[in-house]
Amino acid sequence: MNSPELVQHFEKLFNQQPRIFRAPGRVNLIGEHTDYNDGFVMPAALGFSTYVAIAERPDRKLLIDSEEFAGRLEFDLDHLPSLRTGAWCDYILGVATMLQQRAGNLRGANMLVHGEVPIGAGLSSSAALEVASALAFVSLNNTQLPLPELAQLCRKAENEFVGARVGIMDQFVSCMGKAGHALLLDCRSLDFKFAPIPVGIRLVVCNTKVKHDLATGAYNKRREECEEGVRYFEKLNPAIKALRDVSPEVLERHIDDLPSTIAKRCSHVVHENRRTLDAARALTKSDLSQVGRLMRESHNSLRDLYEVSCHELDVMVDSADGLPGFIGGRMTGGGFGGCTVNLVRWENAEDFAAQVAERYRRATGIDPQTYLCSAEDGAQEVS
Ligand code: GLA
Repeated sequence: MNSPELVQHFEKLFNQQPRIFRAPGRVNLIGEHTDYNDGFVMPAALGFSTYVAIAERPDRKLLIDSEEFAGRLEFDLDHLPSLRTGAWCDYILGVATMLQQRAGNLRGANMLVHGEVPIGAGLSSSAALEVASALAFVSLNNTQLPLPELAQLCRKAENEFVGARVGIMDQFVSCMGKAGHALLLDCRSLDFKFAPIPVGIRLVVCNTKVKHDLATGAYNKRREECEEGVRYFEKLNPAIKALRDVSPEVLERHIDDLPSTIAKRCSHVVHENRRTLDAARALTKSDLSQVGRLMRESHNSLRDLYEVSCHELDVMVDSADGLPGFIGGRMTGGGFGGCTVNLVRWENAEDFAAQVAERYRRATGIDPQTYLCSAEDGAQEVS
């Protein structure tokens, strides 16, 4: 559905003309499970977006319709649920709640949501929905909120309302992404730089089509394990507030004193931060073979040390080896299923996707999905 169709549909449903806002999903090139350790990430916004059409209502109601989910949802802005309801609209309610806490009452609104970001594939459909809704509310209410702050508000909604302890990466890149570039983000200061993805390189995203149940529980467990690591290092040096502050040398010196699981988790995060900074430098210099090597090291570390990969992701990553035009690839996002991201020369991208899919199908019996992507702009109003 394109935006004129969305407008038409909205007019039919609500007999009003809406404004339309979009926010993209993302893929992370490198820097995995580092955001909540105050570290570095390097994602890119993708061409898939979530669209929110919105128009004002004279009362204090919020009416939400969707192209993908049946049934109209109705809420009273003065009595929003205080915690998640378990429905898809929680991301919108969370954002509305945080905005009301921050900037006072929101105006009543009719909303129509259309999502293109594959759901449950680890491409941040939830962040896209949060950011598109937040932008829609902010614009309807003439509130001034710079995009980096809007990203933080969306993350707060997901942490406190939805109850997922995610980091800032997904919301930030959905807001601030730039066409043709990856975004190197310092998740502590929120300083960022763009690293150009050389012309002639495609991002080939391969969806394993599996999402293992342990994903949420294991995500929170990893966070706790990192916190345990921080407590150990903080005792040695009170200036250490997050794994970001632990250097590879300090880690090496003390690694044998840590319980083995904690040692593995810390080791992943400390080296992944370094890899991410190295990859940003290499990308800026168009040193693609170095970027490819670092991506592979990142995958191996997520598989062996952080233990968030799975059989299907490993098969998908291995399936890329040796194919013409392939530069580097790894699992992307939280793990336990979802997608891999691959840098591939433009002229080889289509064949590459077909061959990876074929190898994966043969090895797992699962029909995967592949997407030929490029880095796109972050959230904005659609005219
Ligand atoms: C999920 C979270 C992000 C980040 C990644 C892992 O996508 O939403 O904040 O922690 O996992 O890098």
